[in-house]
Amino acid sequence: MEQSLNHIVFKKVSEVCQTNELKAFVIGGFVRDLLLHRPSKDIDIVTEGSGIEFAQKVARLLDPKIKVNVFKNFGTAMFRYRDLEIEFVGARKESYQRDSRKPIVEDGSLEDDQKRRDFTINALALSLHPDNFGDLIDPFNGKQDLQDKTLRTPLNPDTTYSDDPLRMLRAIRFACQLDFTIEQESFAAIERNAYRIEIISYERINEELNKIMMCAKPGVGFKLLQKSGLLKLIFPELEAMKGVEDVQGHKHKDNFYHTLQVLDNICQNTDNLWLRWSALLHDIAKPRTKKYIQGQGWTFHGHEFIGSKMVPHIFKNLKLPLNEKMKYVQKMVGLHMRPIVLAQEVVTDSAVRRLLFEAGNDVDDLMVLCDADITSKNPDKVSKYLDNYQLVRRKLKEVEEKDRLRNWQPPISGELIMEVFGLTPCAQVGIIKDAIKEAILDGEIGNNYEEAYERMLIKGKKLGLKRLR
Ligand code: CTP
Repeated sequence: MEQSLNHIVFKKVSEVCQTNELKAFVIGGFVRDLLLHRPSKDIDIVTEGSGIEFAQKVARLLDPKIKVNVFKNFGTAMFRYRDLEIEFVGARKESYQRDSRKPIVEDGSLEDDQKRRDFTINALALSLHPDNFGDLIDPFNGKQDLQDKTLRTPLNPDTTYSDDPLRMLRAIRFACQLDFTIEQESFAAIERNAYRIEIISYERINEELNKIMMCAKPGVGFKLLQKSGLLKLIFPELEAMKGVEDVQGHKHKDNFYHTLQVLDNICQNTDNLWLRWSALLHDIAKPRTKKYIQGQGWTFHGHEFIGSKMVPHIFKNLKLPLNEKMKYVQKMVGLHMRPIVLAQEVVTDSAVRRLLFEAGNDVDDLMVLCDADITSKNPDKVSKYLDNYQLVRRKLKEVEEKDRLRNWQPPISGELIMEVFGLTPCAQVGIIKDAIKEAILDGEIGNNYEEAYERMLIKGKKLGLKRLR
């Protein structure tokens, strides 16, 4: 079905080529993905002459109602056809200035257009002219590189990466996403040009980071980022996790590799980007909190608390959204040590209740994070820890069934407290509300209106308040 939809578009392009004696090619990611049998909805078409006029002609043939979006400054035009997004551009030559990603663009041939692209596998083109419809135009052996699973630049890699330093991140992202290897010379060029990443905005950087995060094994990408020297420039907090310190023969584990293992683990169980970010950041404060204490060994006291405080800074620096997604990550980082404590045999209902109260509906995600955090190589230990977490899940379920605390709403509202004691909004209302909440969490009273009402009266009396009704 999808094939045929693409085919309808390509046939119309072909017709326009015929009638106007022009050449056109489908190029870039679409061709790469076609050869890799990966579905793709973005079609890039390169034409000789104006891409804008060409797009208008194709759109008219496909469906006169289609609205073509024209970007005059870039010489491009784009329209949607069903769920396809089709972009047209005249073949061009680009040259770059050192301090900017914005190229100087001139008209050029197809080959000029192909060699200005990032990788040989992204420079493949298929002809759409009826004379040689479907012929592969592959001046840089991209097809062979696809077979060899190799990322190589069409030009000297120093030129390609320096022209547009974002491509260094794209190389690593493709390596991670497609399980390809970056050719040695190319990787050396990334190491040499890493410092050039400074001209790229964080909006573009985090787009690539998020694509890496959504791979099956993002750890592969982060290791390449570290090895290339890019990580310390774009995400120094993560780089700081790398390394092992030794005090009198006592070593701690390398938190960078541990974190990446946790991240890869969690990716087997969730596609939630923000839960994946929580895994990446769960131990982020370990370098800051690390201490060697005689008799105790290496400690990281409070790393979950400090880590959760670091999340907004990291999100701000990386230009990630500062909204409820960030708060969710903060919450996960802050709570990730709590279930471990609950796994102990003797644990009070109150501790379980408090976790349910604080995690709310995200408690299941928290348990997914905790499972992923088990990175021991010893299978006996792994199964022991997993069993412990099953026990925690059971306890959480039992207490939840009894007390329904997941999305806790106070059974007594502030308005009612004010009404009963004839108060206007003031600190005492908060104190009473808090006392009720604490009593419920400690299990002194049940999570219901009657018992909460009674506790309100007791607390009010202690505060010297007079009951009006
Ligand atoms: N391209 C490039 N340099 C960049 C970005 C893109 O040379 N910094 C070229 C590549 O030929 C690429 C094409 O433009 O194939 C389209 O880019 P884009 O749509 O961003 O990426 P895709 O390669 O299609 O891959 P994805 O959709 O996975 O990002």
